[in-house]
Amino acid sequence: MTHYKIAMLDGDGIGPEIMAEAEKVLNLVAERNAVEFELIHTPFGASAYFECGHPFPEQTIAICDDADAILKGPIGLNHEDSQKIPVDMQPERGALLPLRKRYNTWGNFRPVFLPPGLAHFSPIKPEIIGDGIDIMIIRELVGGLYFGEKEVGVNDRGLRYVRETLEYDEEQIRRIAKVAFETAQRRKKVLHNIHKSNVLKSSVLWNEVMEEVGKDFPDVRLEHILVDAAATYLCLNPGRFDVMVMENMFGDILSDQGGGILGSLGLMPSACVGDEKAYYEPSHGSAPDIAGQNVANPYSMIGSVAMMLEMSFGMQDEAKNVWHAMQSVFAQGYSTPDLSRPGSDVKLIDTRSFGDLVVSELAKTSV
Ligand code: IPM
Ligand code: MG
Repeated sequence: MTHYKIAMLDGDGIGPEIMAEAEKVLNLVAERNAVEFELIHTPFGASAYFECGHPFPEQTIAICDDADAILKGPIGLNHEDSQKIPVDMQPERGALLPLRKRYNTWGNFRPVFLPPGLAHFSPIKPEIIGDGIDIMIIRELVGGLYFGEKEVGVNDRGLRYVRETLEYDEEQIRRIAKVAFETAQRRKKVLHNIHKSNVLKSSVLWNEVMEEVGKDFPDVRLEHILVDAAATYLCLNPGRFDVMVMENMFGDILSDQGGGILGSLGLMPSACVGDEKAYYEPSHGSAPDIAGQNVANPYSMIGSVAMMLEMSFGMQDEAKNVWHAMQSVFAQGYSTPDLSRPGSDVKLIDTRSFGDLVVSELAKTSV
């Protein structure tokens, strides 16, 4: 029997609750396929800092190094509690970016997917949504401003200053371009390249490399669009986009806008893929205001499991079944209090019940 080790990084806030639902799905997938998932829970994030003195402790590093894939819950604290942790040990800087760097997960896939059954969550008018929204945002994840050199000091005029560097070499651009074209080739054969070449030299090189890589994909139409214009069109006409590719910081911002057009970041799973290792995580934060209340929707965490099944374990059919199971729970009118208000024409259920329904819908699909 195939045996996979999965490092389970529960994270902070709502992390452990939504992770528990993802685990139910993994258990059913294992049960009905010839696979065994060894799920190894290990601390990560602010909770790890308080438990072990480091947000990405040695024991977690060792488990992740050894794992076939990593499933990561959201991390972080509210502003006030964050202040209890030294700046460099705060979970974003002390755990998440080091995780991305260690496993060189340069390709971040963030689906912005709004099938008709989820359309009522979106703040966008039905006539703009049309048959639904289905965009794949591909974000470069280990370069640009996030990882460039930083300098903080006092200049010769006695003024405090800061310098952050946006750096890419052509190899970094080429590898993300290639996966973006391949993804577009499997979908609608249109790739929107997001840039700011009217101002940034980094975008000039980025666009040049996109064009070069595009020569190997003559069947894919490459469209260049400025990042600010792309932000507008995401609201005015999201249907014009299918696959979008962009550098790290643009991708951070536009993918949250993607969550906005769906109606919630809670509907945004993601995959972070490197040459040797991949990890999977919701695109959102740890929602400390609703943590421990059993009200958070586990969609983004279970969707991340679906992406893991597809991209790390080659289980395409089961991945589709998991997506389908989640959509059918929504299509039956169920929702959770974080996504919907009482009286809003939905049947409100809690986190655990949502996970249970996904599992029973999944059980109805054929392997
Ligand atoms: C994301 C998050 C992270 C990022 C934060 C938590 C560092 O916003 O995954 O989009 O900026 O990449
Ligand atoms: Mg973000």
